[in-house]
Order: sequence, then structure tokens, then C-alpha cells
Amino acid sequence: MQTSGNIAEVEEPQVSARRIFSLIAPELMEVEAEFERACRSNVQVIAYIGDYLRSSGGKRVRPALTLLSNYAVGGDASQANSIRMATVMEFLHTATLVHDDIIDNAEMRRSRPSVNSRFGNQTAVLMGDWLYMSAFETSLAERSLPILDILTAATRKMTEGELLQLTLIGSTEITEEEYLDILQRKTAYLFSACCEIGAIMGRADAAQQEALREYGMNLGTAFQLIDDLLDFTASDEVLGKPAGVDLLEGKLTLPLIYLLDSEPSAREILERVMLERGYEHATRATLLEKVERTGALERFSFILNSELRTPEFCFSLWLQRI
Ligand code: IPE
Ligand code: IPE
Ligand code: MG
Ligand code: MG
Repeated sequence: MQTSGNIAEVEEPQVSARRIFSLIAPELMEVEAEFERACRSNVQVIAYIGDYLRSSGGKRVRPALTLLSNYAVGGDASQANSIRMATVMEFLHTATLVHDDIIDNAEMRRSRPSVNSRFGNQTAVLMGDWLYMSAFETSLAERSLPILDILTAATRKMTEGELLQLTLIGSTEITEEEYLDILQRKTAYLFSACCEIGAIMGRADAAQQEALREYGMNLGTAFQLIDDLLDFTASDEVLGKPAGVDLLEGKLTLPLIYLLDSEPSAREILERVMLERGYEHATRATLLEKVERTGALERFSFILNSELRTPEFCFSLWLQRI
């Protein structure tokens, strides 16, 4: 791991997420087939958008974590009910993306027009609801209250994260603590749920279940931190979604929170970019340079490289590069 602020410079290690995912390639193919089956509907518009969402790809990180956690505790993730639960986790994730893109007014997702921009907000709201409810309906087949507890809690946390984020839109007063709280609700609880549910499906004991729950929390935290950093440093082509939009949408992420810590006079510039919804006043490159100059990016990398230089962080970094 290098200490430079440029995350893209980190070398891919011998063991990569791609290699780890290849261990469960047959199961992931089953998840695709299950996703396709679950989207079949005699309501034509649902079948059509379901297919649109499935065929747009995505890294399938959440079902992979569910399957891997199952195997990690000695379970058999190739069984039909394990595949179904892994698919449920991707359905929930897909629902959050469909709703998130409406909230964020995002036009692109996975290098294609987002559902809201292609089919309109009304259809997107309802499709997101349908995905949520289908996920819960399928998970009911497990007849497992612990699984339902985890799923409902993760979904509620996600909604809380998005709501809390909305209350802070356009504000440059957000603290590091508030930022981390939102990030964990938005993303980390679902990662944690995937790992814990995988463990339950694999008949883990209480200690293994707890360990995987915690692992998922750390992994998800690192994953969203990296997503936010990439929004700041990467290009549209690399991300498959527009880069540099967090600030335009009024979301202040950690590199900029750190920048304000060391250079309070940058507040005015950031507020102007958010207000004008454009980088005319200060380009992304200028801001990035500022962030680098004041050591804010280094401070960010320091968290990533030291405090979070854990297996979870490394795996999250690989996950972003699948
Ligand atoms: C996007 O998740 C939303 C975040 C939590 C950052 P992913 O990066 O896993 O999205 P897809 O499924 O691969 O498109
Ligand atoms: C993650 O937040 C969204 C959810 C977990 C629903 P972002 O708004 O940063 O995700 P992207 O960048 O749109 O994928
Ligand atoms: Mg978004
Ligand atoms: Mg983002």
C-alpha cells in the first residue's frame, strides 16, 4: 500500500477481489438466473425495468459477500435457499440505488441512463418499492425472524441515512462524526447484513455471526469512504456514473470536511460551487489541488492506510476495482 493520496496508485495485490469472486463464479451465475426469475412479472413494465436493471450489471458485491460469508463458516452456499437470499440482498441494493438516483437527481447509473431519467420519477419510485417488497417476500420463505430483524433494521438505517443526508444538503457545517454516521447508515449496515445473513445461512455459531456482522460494518464503511473519494478524484468513464457530483448535489464528503478544518477560508468557494451547481468558480482540479496542498487528502489517506489498513479496507479497495 502506498501512502500517496492517489488511491488509483495502490497496487493490486496477489489476492484480489476478482480472484476471490472467481471462487464463487458458479453461485454468482445462479444469482443472475434467480434475479432474472424474480423479475418475471405479468405486469409488463416491472418485467421490462427489472430486465433493464439486471442487464446493466453492477459489481454484485452484496450477493458475493453473502455467499462468501456462508462458505466462510462451513456452509453450502450453492443450495437454492442460499442463492435466493444472496439475490434478495442484490434486490435490496438495487431498490436503494433506484431511489437514491431519484433523490440525487442522477441521470446515469452503471454507464446507462438511470431508471428515473429513462422512465421518470413516478415509475422509479414504484419500481423501487416493488423491489423492496419482493425482496422481503422472498426472504419470508426462510421463516427466520433473525433474518427478518436484520433486513428490516438495515433497510430502516438506509432510509435514515438518506434522510439525515438530505437535512445536511448544502451545508458546510457537517462534522466528521455526522458524515461517518450517515455513511454507515447508507451503506455499511447493508454490507453488515449481507455478511451476517450469509453466516446464518451457513449455520454459524454466535461468535462467528458477530464477527461477520462486525467485519461487514468495517468493510461497508471503507467501501463508501472510497466511493466518496473516487467521486472526488476519478472520471465518469471509470465510475460508470458522473464524477464530481457529490459537491454539486450539496454533499460535503470527508476530503472537503478535512479541507475546511485546515483552511476555513475555502468555505466560501465550496458554498458557491454548491449554490451554482457547477465548477465555474473553482474547478474540480483546483479543489483537488487545494485538498492536496493543505494535506487533507493525506489525512484521508492516512485514515485509509493506517487506522483502516485492515483486511476489510484492502478488500473494499479491490471491490471498487472489479
Ligand atoms: C453503489 O454501490 C452505492 C454505494 C454504496 C457506493 P456499488 O458500487 O456496489 O454499485 P454497483 O451495484 O456495483 O453498481
Ligand atoms: C450511496 O450513496 C447510496 C446508497 C447506499 C443508497 P451515494 O449517493 O454516494 O451512491 P452513488 O454515488 O449514487 O452510487
Ligand atoms: Mg447517489
Ligand atoms: Mg457516491
